[in-house]
Amino acid sequence: MWLPCGCTSKYVASSFARRTLASYLHVSGRSRCNVAAFMPEAAGLEGVSGRAALRELSVSNSESFWAAVARHRLCWSTPFHTVQDCDLSRGKIKWFEGGKLNVSVNCLDRHVHTCPERVALIWERDERGSEMKYTYGELLEMTCRLGNLLRRHGVKRGDCVTIYMPTCPLAVASMLACARIGAAHNVVFAGFSADALAERIRDGEMLLLIITVNQGVRGGKVTELKKTVDTAMQSCPTVKQVFVAMRTDNPVTMTARDIAMEEVREQKANQILEIQIQAVEGEFDVVCEPAVMNSEDVLFLLYTSGSTGKPKGLVHTQAGYLLYAALTHRYVFSYHDGDVFGCVADIGWITGHSYVVYGPLANGATTVLFESTPIYPDPGRYWDMVERLKINQFYGAPTAIRLLLKYGDQWVNKYDRSTLKTLGSVGEPINTEAWEWYHRVVGDGRCPVVDTWWQTETGGICIAPRPSDPDAEIVPGMAMRPFFGINPVLMDTEGEVLTSNNTSGALCMAQPWPGMARTIHNNHQRFIDTYFQPYPGYFFTGDGAYRSEEGYYQITGRLDDVINVSGHRIGTAEIEDVVCPAVAESAVVGYTHSIKGQGVYAFVVLKKGIDVQEADLSRQLNGMVSEKIAKYASPDFIQFAKRLPKTRSGKIMRRVLRKVVESDLEGLGDLSTLDDPAAVQEIIQDLCLCMNTYF
Ligand code: WTA
Repeated sequence: MWLPCGCTSKYVASSFARRTLASYLHVSGRSRCNVAAFMPEAAGLEGVSGRAALRELSVSNSESFWAAVARHRLCWSTPFHTVQDCDLSRGKIKWFEGGKLNVSVNCLDRHVHTCPERVALIWERDERGSEMKYTYGELLEMTCRLGNLLRRHGVKRGDCVTIYMPTCPLAVASMLACARIGAAHNVVFAGFSADALAERIRDGEMLLLIITVNQGVRGGKVTELKKTVDTAMQSCPTVKQVFVAMRTDNPVTMTARDIAMEEVREQKANQILEIQIQAVEGEFDVVCEPAVMNSEDVLFLLYTSGSTGKPKGLVHTQAGYLLYAALTHRYVFSYHDGDVFGCVADIGWITGHSYVVYGPLANGATTVLFESTPIYPDPGRYWDMVERLKINQFYGAPTAIRLLLKYGDQWVNKYDRSTLKTLGSVGEPINTEAWEWYHRVVGDGRCPVVDTWWQTETGGICIAPRPSDPDAEIVPGMAMRPFFGINPVLMDTEGEVLTSNNTSGALCMAQPWPGMARTIHNNHQRFIDTYFQPYPGYFFTGDGAYRSEEGYYQITGRLDDVINVSGHRIGTAEIEDVVCPAVAESAVVGYTHSIKGQGVYAFVVLKKGIDVQEADLSRQLNGMVSEKIAKYASPDFIQFAKRLPKTRSGKIMRRVLRKVVESDLEGLGDLSTLDDPAAVQEIIQDLCLCMNTYF
């Protein structure tokens, strides 16, 4: 069925023919022209006369909607027979059953076939001005080489490979190589410590192999990734092999377990040309037969923090995830063929998965891999890159926007940003000041700003101002409009759906969509308990939201004990667990931080009889958190307390501590359930002592 490297011309042609035929079978002439203008995939849907009607149908008749877009947007080797089989009350989510496809074929081969010379990746390396471009042909070759290498070393369909790498072409090729041979990947953010890496490897008993680089380079600093892997390996006996690529020229100590990956690194320019020519002819010197995957086979695991317990490995599957990433990438950002898409997220997070790798590549886009930081070597880095790479859509995080705003407009104005068409924001609420600056200064007041709300769990963007009519209003700091097929509801404290507008509640989703996570690796019960049990029959996001008079959504923040530091999720309990052995008791809460969005504030009660300088202990505790989790999770403030406010049953009142660190003493609420209200007074007094440095 598959010819070398996937799609043959026959395969593509017949699939196109099928699609065209399918759309003609259901066409009602009246509806076609209107809808086809903005969403050709939906042109065949009956009775849809415009954008609003299409949005309505995508919810009221979601099966027809998703069937139409899945047939058009993905390249299937066997068509699906069942659009969906979901039961939210049991956490059962299945889409496109019966369908078979290969994600890497969808992301590579079909584009190599139609436009082999198109640039797939622009690697914006840490060293400014040294970007490297990779065509679809080259990326396919790299992927095939890697796929073969993995197969040769015993990786089979259904295995899982951990990838611990900075954002670089080889990391993307590694993800796609796993997809090609039917293995799942587990990308661990390269900023995570050895302990955090080891924990994520151990969680799945099938994690046998790791791909890493000798050293990472970010913001001019070198990080010892291979050494971190070596440390992690001490507690991961199941890992038999570690592939090591060279990002820098510095040699690292190799052990018997390590395999140098030089043989699959990018090829020289003259060889690349050769590959492209061969690609056009349909013959490759590197062939890696793509595995034929079922829609619901696992594509990847990605760990994220919850409010309790260890980080959870959310599982995404093949077809539904890819379709949702591709569709949202196309329509939220108004991505068009030939555009250069610049999402600056790290591939270690879901944003990197969906909008650096899978969404753009499924759409045949040119996608930027950003290895650096917003202020390296100076605060003009992003905008210099926009000018140099001619970026059309820029997608970043509010924390970076807030940071750059402080450096002033001159760093933006220095560079030509006329290629920009859409600006995106993700990861945390964007405050009005940052939004306005992004819109007025960066976008010269002419680019729509899309504040996109979504989560690792949702797979792709669920609420965003676009798509909507080109002149539809965009309210600063609001995600606003649900995407096609997304049906948000707000719940009150009794678990009842709030039907009116101008109201706030717990944000839930009333129906499934193809991009949502399918389970938590090795723990389906936790999946049900976390997301489906709080509001039976609904998916609970963990966030609160406000719905305006006009029906627009604004995210108000987490309702659980998860804090969002610079757009990175961290469970307060995870930090408490780390500091716990050194202290008698601790309670960690988030507070508003002008750059990071939220900072980490830790209250600590010392063990009796411990004679240690508070400053020393602070340093020690911070070091422990960096070492066990990651630097970003380290507390910004550690306050030593004699005791913590507790209920009579001994539960720490974090709600009260949150109010205290936010200086909202009026909002402390009912303290009558506290065992000893004086504990709060003591804490407030100590907090006042450090207020000069804090506020
Ligand atoms: C928060 C990142 C407000 C939210 C894609 C969510 C946001 C968590 C926004 C998911 C936004 C993300 N406005 N808050 N536009 N986008 N969040 O899994 O609390 O790393 O639950 O996914 O980030 O973080 P995650």
